[in-house]
Amino acid sequence: MKGMFITVEGPDGAGKTNLIKRLVKAIEAEDTRPLVVTREPGGSQIAEEIREILLTPRHMNMDPRTEALLLAAGRRQHVVEKIRPALERGDNVLSDRFVDSSIVYQGQARGIGIDVVKEINSFAVEGLKPDLTIYLDVDAEVGLNRIKHKDSNRSQDRLELEKVAFHDEVRKGYHTLIEEEPERFVVIDASQSEEDVFQETWRRVKDRLIK
Ligand code: TMP
Repeated sequence: MKGMFITVEGPDGAGKTNLIKRLVKAIEAEDTRPLVVTREPGGSQIAEEIREILLTPRHMNMDPRTEALLLAAGRRQHVVEKIRPALERGDNVLSDRFVDSSIVYQGQARGIGIDVVKEINSFAVEGLKPDLTIYLDVDAEVGLNRIKHKDSNRSQDRLELEKVAFHDEVRKGYHTLIEEEPERFVVIDASQSEEDVFQETWRRVKDRLIK
C-alpha cells in the first residue's frame, strides 16, 4: 500500500468537520497524490444506509451489541469498497472517524468492553490501521454545548442525545488508546479557536505526510 491513511477522532462537538475542510486543502496543496475524503459511520452507499439506522433518534431502544455490530458491518463495506482500493491505488485517505470511535463509544462508553469491540472490528477490517490519527481533545460538556449552539435547526442524533457522563467515558476511552499507542496519535487541544486548532494540527502533521 502506498497511500497514507489518516483518521480524525474526538468526542462530539470537538470540531472535526471544520478542521477536515481546512486540512483537505492543505494536504492537497502539499501532496500530489489524490486524497479520498470519507467518514464513518458511512462512506459507502450500504454504510450510509446503516448510518441512518444508527443515528436516528427513532431507535432509542437499540441494543449496544446491535449498535457495535451495525457499525462494524458498515465499516467492513466501507473498507472493502472505498478505503482499501484507494490506498492500494496509492491515494491518500482522510477519514472522519474509524475503529477507534467504536472502541471508545461502544467498548468504553456503552460498556460492552474494549477487547470485544476490538475483536469484532478486527474481523471487519482485517488488520487495516491508520498511519496517523489526529485526536481533537475537548471536555465532554464543552463539546455538547457547541453542538447545541452551533445549528439550532439541526436536530441532535441518537448518540449526541446521550448524557454528559456517557461523553466523559468517550473521552476517557480516547485517553486510554493514546496511552497505548502514543506514536500513532497527534493530540490537539480543541478548546482553542478554529484557526489555532488548524494551525497547530497542520504544523504537526505536515512533516508526517509520507513522501
Ligand atoms: P459524527 O458526529 O462524527 O458524524 O458521528 C456520529 C456519531 O456516531 C457520533 O456520536 C459518534 C458515533 N460513532 C460511534 O458511536 N461509533 C463509531 O464507531 C462511529 C464511527 C461513530
